[in-house]
Amino acid sequence: MDPHQRPHHPSHHHRPPTPPRTNPRPLAQTAAQRLAAEVELPARFVRADVYDVADVLEPASYDVVVATYGVLVWLPDLDEFARVVARMLRPGGVVFLAEFHPLQSMVDEDLRVRTSYFREGAADRTVRTSYTGQELQEHVQSTWPWTVSGLVNALAGAGLRVQRLDELPVDLRQRTPEMIQDPNGFWRLPGDPLPLLLTSLAVKD
Ligand SMILES: C[S@@+](CC[C@H](N)C(=O)[O-])C[C@H]1O[C@@H](n2cnc3c(N)ncnc32)[C@H](O)[C@@H]1O
Repeated sequence: MDPHQRPHHPSHHHRPPTPPRTNPRPLAQTAAQRLAAEVELPARFVRADVYDVADVLEPASYDVVVATYGVLVWLPDLDEFARVVARMLRPGGVVFLAEFHPLQSMVDEDLRVRTSYFREGAADRTVRTSYTGQELQEHVQSTWPWTVSGLVNALAGAGLRVQRLDELPVDLRQRTPEMIQDPNGFWRLPGDPLPLLLTSLAVKD
């Protein structure tokens, strides 16, 4: 099943007791394998729902876990995600996260507040495409709002020590006409009024 699809179900507004098991896209795996072959990188790519990753990779054996840009919003249970990460790292291993700041999802183009930062439960939309634009049957697409404190507490609760957490006034793309590109290629709102990205580094002691 597409990780971004969930069947219509009357209870989909409630956080499920256990995260739904999903199977991320084979296309990404094929593209990654092709790229690795091109640059002669001896990399292995596996495909699994993050909550089931211990079924396909060896726990307590990784130096680094990385998740970037638009991952956390698809996860119904951030605490369980952090526990999975902690389980996969060897002692001394680190997890690096780079994400779109959750404040971004609560304001509109004019930076007016549209939803509560503290909203809970799945935000469901009925859509006919995947988030990459692929045409699909009509289905409910669920995302889960998260907060900075929720992330820090999830990491801490899983025994991961946050070494740094940074909020940045830059974004990867131009989201509003006012945004201007800086010399590093990042996009900024004039005056840098809001955090747009967030990065965090945590270690398993
Ligand atoms: C926005 S993309 C990540 C973008 C990419 N990391 C980057 O920096 O360009 C979100 C990814 O999360 C994956 N994903 C969503 N839910 C997942 C889950 N439960 N288990 C594993 N992967 C999941 C999707 O398959 C997709 O590849």
